[in-house]
Amino acid sequence: MSESNNTTAPYIEFIHVSKAFDDQPVLVDVSFEVRRGEMVVVLGRSGVGKSVTLKHILGFLQPDEGQVFVAGKEVSRLTEPELVEIRRRVTMVFQSGALFDSLTVGENVAYPLRERVERGLSLNEDQIQARVDELLGRVDLAEGRDLMPADLSTGMKRSVAIARALAAEPEAILYDEPTTMVDPLMAQTLSDLILKLKRATGLTSMVVTHDMRLARKLADRIVFLVDGRVAFFGPVSELDSAEEPIVQAFIYLDEVSFLKSS
Ligand SMILES: Nc1ncnc2c1ncn2[C@@H]1O[C@H](COP(=O)(O)OP(=O)(O)OP(=O)(O)O)[C@@H](O)[C@H]1O
Ligand SMILES: [Mg+2]
Repeated sequence: MSESNNTTAPYIEFIHVSKAFDDQPVLVDVSFEVRRGEMVVVLGRSGVGKSVTLKHILGFLQPDEGQVFVAGKEVSRLTEPELVEIRRRVTMVFQSGALFDSLTVGENVAYPLRERVERGLSLNEDQIQARVDELLGRVDLAEGRDLMPADLSTGMKRSVAIARALAAEPEAILYDEPTTMVDPLMAQTLSDLILKLKRATGLTSMVVTHDMRLARKLADRIVFLVDGRVAFFGPVSELDSAEEPIVQAFIYLDEVSFLKSS
């Protein structure tokens, strides 16, 4: 495996990963990789193991078999301090946003900046506030800095969570179901935002979703999970010509449901 300073090595790599809970297999021989600067979307139905996949990247879960590499390091071999370091370099935007409810929007975004100051980043209070304004501007919430999370819609909470993730200046960002449980307009706003940030920052990104249209819109490459296995891994442009019947069935069903709803 290459070292982390080798820029041609994948940033995230799953090699024949299997994981079961109580003898119930969830991931079965899953292999894929995410290159630096790439956006890979993990697509699959509810319960297929998408969140479990993300938790392996951050070392919250360990594979039963196979290996997970992040930034050239095998995650299951890392010590606790090294895991803390990986979780700084790779940030997760949770479905709920997971904001600190007792802090304002602005203080939520300032939080990772203050943590970085504690670790030696040189920023004074005015510079922190300016950075918070800039980050909130990037997610179109410049007016929201003094609001409390309870005042925000689910979609706005996710936008704040994205701004907070960016404040940590990670190398990679993982989005868990960024567009579920919001109205279609907000879903579009969030997916536009994710795409815009990816283009602007070149961040290595992963999105997990069950939404085929979102996957097509965002992905450089798609990992299609069916029953815990990778049914397809490749560029979006090759998805439609994938021969696996199960992939074809999904594409067909997606088109039918789209025609019905439009
Ligand atoms: N810590 C755990 N202990 C036991 N079972 C678990 C654990 N985490 C996940 N599972 C099981 O693994 C399976 C996959 O869960 P996961 O949360 O990854 O699904 P998902 O694809 O993210 O689904 P959704 O779209 O609903 O978020 C589920 O059956 C879940 O119950
Ligand atoms: Mg999930």
